[in-house]
Amino acid sequence: ALLLNPIHDTEPPSPTKRHTKVTVVGVGNVGMAIVHAILSQHLADELALIDAQADKLRGEVLDLQHAAAFLPRTTIKSSTDVSSAAYSDLCIITAGARQRPEESRLDLLKRNVQILSAIVPRLARAAPNSTILVVSNPVDVLTYVTYRLSGFPANRVIGSGTNLDSSRFRFMIAEHLRVNAHDVQAYMVGEHGDSSVALWSSVSVGGVGIVGLVKGEDAVLEEMRERVVKSAYEVIALKGYTSWAIGYSVGSLAGTLLRDQRKIQPVSVVAKGFHGIEEEVFLSLPAQLGRNGVIGVVNVELTEEETKRLRASAKKLWEVQQELGI
Ligand code: NAI
Ligand code: 2OP
Repeated sequence: ALLLNPIHDTEPPSPTKRHTKVTVVGVGNVGMAIVHAILSQHLADELALIDAQADKLRGEVLDLQHAAAFLPRTTIKSSTDVSSAAYSDLCIITAGARQRPEESRLDLLKRNVQILSAIVPRLARAAPNSTILVVSNPVDVLTYVTYRLSGFPANRVIGSGTNLDSSRFRFMIAEHLRVNAHDVQAYMVGEHGDSSVALWSSVSVGGVGIVGLVKGEDAVLEEMRERVVKSAYEVIALKGYTSWAIGYSVGSLAGTLLRDQRKIQPVSVVAKGFHGIEEEVFLSLPAQLGRNGVIGVVNVELTEEETKRLRASAKKLWEVQQELGI
């Protein structure tokens, strides 16, 4: 016998023994960094990895399976067929082209809309009760495309948005003030990209508002915002792509969603109706997240200048969407 004195569990699985399945579409740099973050937090019982390149996919899965002795037990399956996402709780889309040095995220639009048009309707049919988390760029416009093509309610289609930009922002403030980034409460909102907006008026460190605390404030703060916006370009120029920060960012969002943590994180959501935005666009606002996706958007107070910049971000995304005809 394999087991001595085996203890047979004769009870049927109770709701507390729920099986959690996560699908990741696209196993490139970003997809694999996300998989790593999910595995190391033990967020899923089953992982389905999907990619168009069968050999690369098989290689990644074997490489992960060889770590089985060091990881929590997770069933990892792979397929080039999107229907293997069936019964997923969370589907994460990272498939698509990435920026070459000097290219902006919006430059990827046509290539990635085509790729998502092939993936999303099939994904939605395979896992109709899941939440879809879009990461591929330009993430806000592609989240809108996913919303339209999936037919899902808006609360179950989310873009990873400025959760990453906000982490970069918190890191820079923390470095400047020599504090721990965990103690910095700060949000970047709007487009994940060149028109993102730093909400200086609501930044606090250990509960103390930062405005008025930084020497030479206006120049320092504006420079920090610009550095956040340039961060991805800098990393792409140096190593060719960004992966680790987005991996942890999405790992954190996956934890909030799957474990129903009701945390507030800045993600790309339907922004129409907030802060005077009239266009049907997805852009990032601090939102409360749980098992069923977006619970609500935080009623954060913005200055006139912040509102103006946010609306300009919405207008820019709307104009881009108009050219798609979706
Ligand atoms: P990558 O080139 O390493 O991987 C992309 C993967 O997508 C490849 O494995 C490719 O085979 C796969 N793929 C392409 N078409 C497919 C299809 N029709 N079905 C299934 N798989 C398909 O690229 P990387 O570095 O992983 O970036 C992926 C995306 O994530 C890019 O659009 C990039 O701009 C975006 N990104 C977004 C971030 C964010 O904060 N939202 C941060 C970093 C990257
Ligand atoms: C990033 O911000 C390129 O969107 C990607 O890292």
